[in-house]
Amino acid sequence: MRAVIQDRYGSADVVEVGDLPDPVPADDEVLVRVRAVSLNGSDRENLVGRPAYARLGGLRRPRNPVPGSDVAGTVVAVGRSVTGYAPGDDVLGELAGYRGGLAEYVATAPRLLAPKPAALSFAQAAAIPQAGCIALRATRGLRPGDRLLVNGAGGAGGALVIGLAKHLGARVTAVDRGDKAGYLLRLGADDTIAYERCDWADQRDRYDRVVDLVASRSPYRVHGALRTGGSYLMVGGSTRVLLATFGAAPVLRGATGKRVGVLMVPQSRADLEEVTALVADGAVVPAIDAVWPLEEAPAVFARLAAGDNLGKLVVEVP
Ligand SMILES: NC(=O)c1ccc[n+]([C@@H]2O[C@H](COP(=O)([O-])OP(=O)(O)OC[C@H]3O[C@@H](n4cnc5c(N)ncnc54)[C@H](OP(=O)(O)O)[C@@H]3O)[C@@H](O)[C@H]2O)c1
Repeated sequence: MRAVIQDRYGSADVVEVGDLPDPVPADDEVLVRVRAVSLNGSDRENLVGRPAYARLGGLRRPRNPVPGSDVAGTVVAVGRSVTGYAPGDDVLGELAGYRGGLAEYVATAPRLLAPKPAALSFAQAAAIPQAGCIALRATRGLRPGDRLLVNGAGGAGGALVIGLAKHLGARVTAVDRGDKAGYLLRLGADDTIAYERCDWADQRDRYDRVVDLVASRSPYRVHGALRTGGSYLMVGGSTRVLLATFGAAPVLRGATGKRVGVLMVPQSRADLEEVTALVADGAVVPAIDAVWPLEEAPAVFARLAAGDNLGKLVVEVP
């Protein structure tokens, strides 16, 4: 099969397109003919091998050389013990270890998949899984009028965090590079902060929730921007901040009544179905920057590495 191959960590130059043997599904797996794959920040992290947690899938080099986590496609074979899926079913999902998707075929556990609604194209469906499940958990419990700040709002997860928060009636401040402000306002943000000009963490007692997709600040600093009873959710960022946030959570909660914590987003079929239904109903729309053919994957990774995309980069597998 044709596949994108990344057999070492590095810049976009390490990505090439080549031929690999077709995967054979185990008894408890389904074989999916991949039709579209969308890229996330985690694909950039797995390309360069940073932060440290990006090497969980291989310390010196990726154990699975095929990148790509978020897929939409059609089931073409099922293992003997699989129930609930049959050849011909259209599906979407986030693959284990964030890898294996950028190929004509992938064998995967069926619990990672959900049915693709007929109303969504494969490209639209592929744009949902990881970003949608992050956004669903990051916005859960928001009430109309709540003030939410999203840091790193212009990336894959941020677009759907903004969309779901607006759907719930929250007031959204979106933080990203200044030249993305127009894009963020079009997504529904009420106001924007350019991270290169202004530090949102200097604000005091302002937000009911902060969702941080690119955490780089100490939890002892960010909690000041929260109102009493507010919460800070770290989704992605440096390993140093990740460990500090785990440690600070009980201290800050006891001392200030504000919560800081790491939002661990499980690979949940129920969540995937819930957010997919919201997209199919038009409650929220995934932003797509451009759709590229598989053979141009090296150029797609170069664009991902540069961070110039507004919305998701989607690769179609012809
Ligand atoms: N917690 C979990 O369970 C879980 C699950 C899956 C993924 N994740 C993590 O979630 C994180 C975010 O994912 P994503 O796909 O949304 O990332 P993404 O697509 O890379 O988006 C990150 C955005 O942040 C912007 N940014 C960079 N530096 C910034 C700064 N200092 N201040 C504000 N914005 C800044 C980037 O813009 P520019 O680069 O253009 O400046 C980009 O628009 C990743 O680290 C991923 O590993 C967590």
